[in-house]
Amino acid sequence: MGSQKLLLVTLFLLAFASSAQGYDFFYFVQQWPGSYCNTNNQRCCYPIYGKPPSGFGIHGLWPNYNRPPYGAYPQNCYSNSIPIMSNRQVSGLVPNLQTNWPSWTCPRSDSSNFWQHEWTKHGTCSEAVLSQYDYFRVSLQFKQSTNILQCLITAGILPNGRYYTLASVTAAIEKCIRHTIYVKCNIDKWGHDQLYEVYTCINKSGTMLIDCPVLPTPTCLSFWIRFPSF
Ligand SMILES: *[C@@H]1O[C@H](CO)[C@@H](O)[C@H](O)[C@H]1NC(C)=O
Repeated sequence: MGSQKLLLVTLFLLAFASSAQGYDFFYFVQQWPGSYCNTNNQRCCYPIYGKPPSGFGIHGLWPNYNRPPYGAYPQNCYSNSIPIMSNRQVSGLVPNLQTNWPSWTCPRSDSSNFWQHEWTKHGTCSEAVLSQYDYFRVSLQFKQSTNILQCLITAGILPNGRYYTLASVTAAIEKCIRHTIYVKCNIDKWGHDQLYEVYTCINKSGTMLIDCPVLPTPTCLSFWIRFPSF
């Protein structure tokens, strides 16, 4: 009896440990600073190193499940990895991170707290596949290979404060990167839906874009969404 119980407990722990560490794919999330700043519920500040070039910036690379319960994702996984700024390889990426992964929070910062937060919350859950250095290196590579702003401009969708249909925004990006995506909206000061983030999907090994296996709940509820200038 005692050994049976022990066996059950062991099996349970093994199942729990493997599901806690597993994930099926990544969301690679880029944000439009105009919509981060242009909303009632948050202030925004330029980083201390100045205004980064106009464009989408990286929010994060997020390991995700493609199975129920949908909406759940692994986070803050156990890790004994060193703080990112003590990692000499990661330090070598800092100029590139400053340009492509800026933090807009106030008070102004050097953005490193943002990178550390993304690593701790999300990156630690894919550490068996992407080392701390690879997590940042691969994110920067995908940022470069998916030029979302250029995709939109090519389709005549410009950050000029005008309104576009969600369908046209989605189609423009999907045609350009040849994979399905998700557009997330937030609400501007006047209560209108606006283009806030673009989620692309990357396979489990972090090597290539894929069609998104599962999409978050829709957040662009109006037919027309605004693309604010920045
Ligand atoms: C991801 O894509 C690469 C390149 O095609 C492939 O070699 C690898 O097996 C894929 N990984 C997964 C987990 O699908």
